[in-house]
Amino acid sequence: MTASTATLNRKELFLRACRGEALPRAPVWMMRQAGRYLPEYRELRAKHPFLEVCKTPDLAVEVSLQPFRRLGVDAIIVFSDILIPAEAMGVPLELGDAGPHLLEPVRSADAVQKLRCFDPETETGFLMEAIRRLVQAAGPDVPVLGFAGAPWTMACYMVEGRTKEGFATVKGFLQSEPAAFRELLHRIAQATIAYLVAQIAAGAAAVQLFDTWCGELALPEYREFALPAVQEIISGVRGAAPVIYYSKASHHLMEAVAETGADVLSVDWRVNLEALRAKLGPGIGLQGNLDPATLFAPPESVVATTKNILKQLGGRGHILNLGHGILPNTPIEAAQSFIRTGQEYSFATTAARQASEGLEKTPETNFRQNAS
Ligand code: CP3
Repeated sequence: MTASTATLNRKELFLRACRGEALPRAPVWMMRQAGRYLPEYRELRAKHPFLEVCKTPDLAVEVSLQPFRRLGVDAIIVFSDILIPAEAMGVPLELGDAGPHLLEPVRSADAVQKLRCFDPETETGFLMEAIRRLVQAAGPDVPVLGFAGAPWTMACYMVEGRTKEGFATVKGFLQSEPAAFRELLHRIAQATIAYLVAQIAAGAAAVQLFDTWCGELALPEYREFALPAVQEIISGVRGAAPVIYYSKASHHLMEAVAETGADVLSVDWRVNLEALRAKLGPGIGLQGNLDPATLFAPPESVVATTKNILKQLGGRGHILNLGHGILPNTPIEAAQSFIRTGQEYSFATTAARQASEGLEKTPETNFRQNAS
């Protein structure tokens, strides 16, 4: 047993996973873990509109901590929304019960020229303050995560104004004015670099880029438009903190997604993690990928499906997560059982099996999980 690895705290575990290293157990958190499936979240939201929660550090810190207190997740993502920087770039935003609404969609080269690169500390200082307070409250052993939307996904909202099936307006813009559209993605990328660097300076241990709608693109368009803007951000942030890139429904894009430069790729349930690792090699971390709908299945299925996911990577460079955000009506017990299964699953057994099969055993896998 190696003493240094047996006593890993949550942050060390998380950062090791980001480096693709072997782990005693996989760290686990859930996208959208602060949300409506928690009664304490609903209670707070009954008193405060969504954007008020985002823009009031005390409230944002409180809701960010709710899933940590209730479920003991291994990482705390700061409560905010990917559309906050769109507003700071100059596109007014409403976030009501019907979802986001951007009141002045960006649909011309002129509108693109008017978008501002903003100072994150003055325009979105509430987020940086929330991160600083979270880091204080959680202490040095727990990673606090920052995030932003990836440029293509941001452009979908900024051009469409609302989420719409098919994304005809944004795709029409891309096809008819490719140079202006590329400039839009570039401006979003530049604003996002400053925004993420400020979050890291405020104490975020890692940051995640959400590319929820990249799966809407075919491989040639993804390569030509979305990918260079993601690469621009990742090279702009490189060295400051690990970057996790979440791509949804992106199985047809994987060869290009692998070129983003991200430390960790976060994928949905359509992707087999073991096959992806075999394709990409050991250097890259992988995050995922339980279908959030599985949390509506009986508890035994949640446990069995989660264990199957964990077995695929054998505890090497794996951050256990859902394949997309947790759904509003999810039973809390199912979320609890997902987190618990992840935290109790020790890879000491994997090391023992490898030894009995005569496979080379790395020192890091040869110990038991330290109870947390
Ligand atoms: O993960 C977390 O707990 C941190 C908070 C977080 C929220 N949104 C809070 C939120 C994060 C990381 C996001 C990211 C986000 N926001 C994405 C990318 C991830 C994904 O889920 O695909 C997208 C596409 C958005 C845009 C957005 N915000 C939509 C489409 C909606 C409406 C849909 C919905 O779930 O209601 C929102 C609102 C939103 N953002 C809510 C939360 C908790 C629900 C608002 C409420 O409390 O009523």
